[in-house]
Amino acid sequence: MKVFHTVSGLRDDLVRDRIQGLRIGFVPTMGNLHEGHLALLKQAKKTNDIVVCSIFVNALQFSLNEDWDKYPRTYQSDSEKLRDAGCDYLFHPDDTEMYPNGLDTQSRVICPTMTDVLCGASRPGHFEGVTTVVSKLFNIVQPDEAVFGIKDYQQLAVIRRMVEDLCLPIQISSAPIHRETDGLAMSSRNRYITDDERPLVTVLKDSLDWIAEQIRDGNKEFSELENMAAERVSEAGFKVDYITCSNSKTLDLAAYDDEDITVLGAMFTQAARLIDNVSLVKD
Ligand code: PAF
Repeated sequence: MKVFHTVSGLRDDLVRDRIQGLRIGFVPTMGNLHEGHLALLKQAKKTNDIVVCSIFVNALQFSLNEDWDKYPRTYQSDSEKLRDAGCDYLFHPDDTEMYPNGLDTQSRVICPTMTDVLCGASRPGHFEGVTTVVSKLFNIVQPDEAVFGIKDYQQLAVIRRMVEDLCLPIQISSAPIHRETDGLAMSSRNRYITDDERPLVTVLKDSLDWIAEQIRDGNKEFSELENMAAERVSEAGFKVDYITCSNSKTLDLAAYDDEDITVLGAMFTQAARLIDNVSLVKD
């Protein structure tokens, strides 16, 4: 695995690879890697000749009260995991390399409306930070394909929309949610869950699964279902951020005749905000 800390260094190698006709896959991350990230890499390896992974904890997508400074930076073990899993190129820039003109004057990429709802409502500016850094990374790597996890469903939908709107010639692929044995979606933020909370946090997934089952059975009273599921999460002792049935592509509230619906939820533990989702596609 080759490691690059500069844009120009990575580009030099990628230019040579492209001249040879190699297909480039890309997996952007913020590090603190778990099995879910490695599954993205493994998926990218199946359809590409060279896979680039990036590790960059992007300050632009954290608001002032969030955990950017305490976000775990585990570069040594991350790079070993990536090397062992067959990553070809690791891109690990520092803040100055990514934002040479500083954050305040950085040009931004904005994907309106669908970033104002769900996680965007409680994390203002978050998705603007994501779309900005992802488009920068796309411009640096110029991949044929980029792979994102379904766990961050809104992020995936927003990036798909950005790629469509900006005519970027990149295939966006998704990889299934990686779960612990009891169903908890793997996340770098699971480390903030306390031992007391741990057996209870699967209530989020269970509640979303319950809604999905109800919809499959023909119940389309979406807001009633959302309220009942939210009550269940609250009863387990967690503060609900949102539980919403949405159109899978636009993230608008699900309409009665929508065929492709995703049920998304977020809740607060004492020190973490956990998200999960389940998609229903009509047979
Ligand atoms: O999903 C993440 O880890 C980040 O949001 C991403 C896509 C790497 C952008 O910083």
